[in-house]
Amino acid sequence: MNIAVIGTGYVGLVSGVCFSDLGNHVTCVDKLKEKVEMLQQGEVPIYEPGLKELIEKNSSAGRLKFTTDLPSAVKDADIVIMAVGTPSLPNGEADLSYIMEAAKEVAAAVNSYKVIVTKSTVPVGTNEKIGNLIRSYTTESFDIASVPEFLREGSAIRDTLNPDRIVIGTESQLAQDMLVKLHGPLTDNIIFTDVRSAEMIKYASNAFLATKISFINEIANICEKVGADVTRVAEGMGYDKRIGSSFLKAGIGYGGSCFPKDTQALIQIAGHVDYDFKLLKSVVDVNNDQRYNVIRKLESILEDLSGKTIAIWGLAFKPETDDVRDAPAFEIITSLLQRGAKVKAYDPIATANFKKIFDHPDVKYCKVAEEAAHDADALCVLTEWREFQEISLHDIQSWLKTPILIDGRNIFTEQELADTEFAYYSVGRPS
Ligand code: UGA
Repeated sequence: MNIAVIGTGYVGLVSGVCFSDLGNHVTCVDKLKEKVEMLQQGEVPIYEPGLKELIEKNSSAGRLKFTTDLPSAVKDADIVIMAVGTPSLPNGEADLSYIMEAAKEVAAAVNSYKVIVTKSTVPVGTNEKIGNLIRSYTTESFDIASVPEFLREGSAIRDTLNPDRIVIGTESQLAQDMLVKLHGPLTDNIIFTDVRSAEMIKYASNAFLATKISFINEIANICEKVGADVTRVAEGMGYDKRIGSSFLKAGIGYGGSCFPKDTQALIQIAGHVDYDFKLLKSVVDVNNDQRYNVIRKLESILEDLSGKTIAIWGLAFKPETDDVRDAPAFEIITSLLQRGAKVKAYDPIATANFKKIFDHPDVKYCKVAEEAAHDADALCVLTEWREFQEISLHDIQSWLKTPILIDGRNIFTEQELADTEFAYYSVGRPS
């Protein structure tokens, strides 16, 4: 099949590349000329394991193209996938201006029957609006469908090629058949729904996962006070199939471009129909506060942070990505600076992205983990990069001025700490 993908952000780029790997002819469209030129040369604007190799493979096989020419891509396509960003507006609502603009351009280019799919995360009812808008621009026939994306950054290729489920929301049998043909090679588990339910499945899924994280983080906070170990608690809970073991890792809270944005957007969606989504509001509050536990723990040992040097390991919102959007590191570093501390920060790959947004004379970005830890008064681990887990605690102890370690992701074990002198504070485990 011929596919046009509009938008080469995470979702668009990864989906387009994976569909081409299944043998389809895919044209990925973006407005940004420099980005398209980069991709044409096989350079990848984001760090995602395996993506560069798949782009090279499918571009050289002639199945994958990148262009700024939206009309030509749409004209040649059987299926048009819209995957442009829906960032948060200041009030938390999703900003639909990019997707509506893209829909207009698609409408102007439609020359024969197309299935127009939205993969961007959009509030319930948006696909209908897109359909109405396109209908006002063209008399050609088309169908709309919502096929939400559930890939995670850092494992995006694996998630796309081995999805737990595919949700297809459309009212048209022809569109459904074409989308089954496209997604069929990925899984047998395809769920068919109406368009509005498909839109809601995406928000409800992200909100539920965020709820699991805030829930386990609160359990962790209680564990610290009653002397229990949250990792054992989560393990014991997870064996219950009704609960499941994933997304029960306690830490400093969720970040990234999805959970913070989508939880706020769902609260707004509910608000628009006069529903007060109290549970989700608490999930967000718990998450916003969880990161400050790092500061509270530091202050409980060092008291006054003024004039202290704090090493930070991990700036990305999670490992295996250079994405720093809504990373807890921003608030934690800001808080340290407000308290008069100096910061030495290191991340295996996200430093450049972080520095672009956060350049401060009292933050020194380091090239290696040791440099950040060297002579620091304490070390805080904010992202669970494997690299950090592989460094010996004895080495870390010898680098630091004082052996104080705040492990915001529970990456070190009791055994590893056994013959060290660390004042060690993790999340929800005995110190
Ligand atoms: C999330 C969802 O997992 C995807 O299914 C969805 O497609 C995506 O959002 C999206 O809407 O585009 P992503 O944000 O890439 O994916 O990353 P996750 O692995 O879900 O992690 C999100 C945050 O939760 C990270 O900050 C991570 O550290 C945190 N987390 C995750 C925890 O604190 N504990 C856990 O047990 C799991």
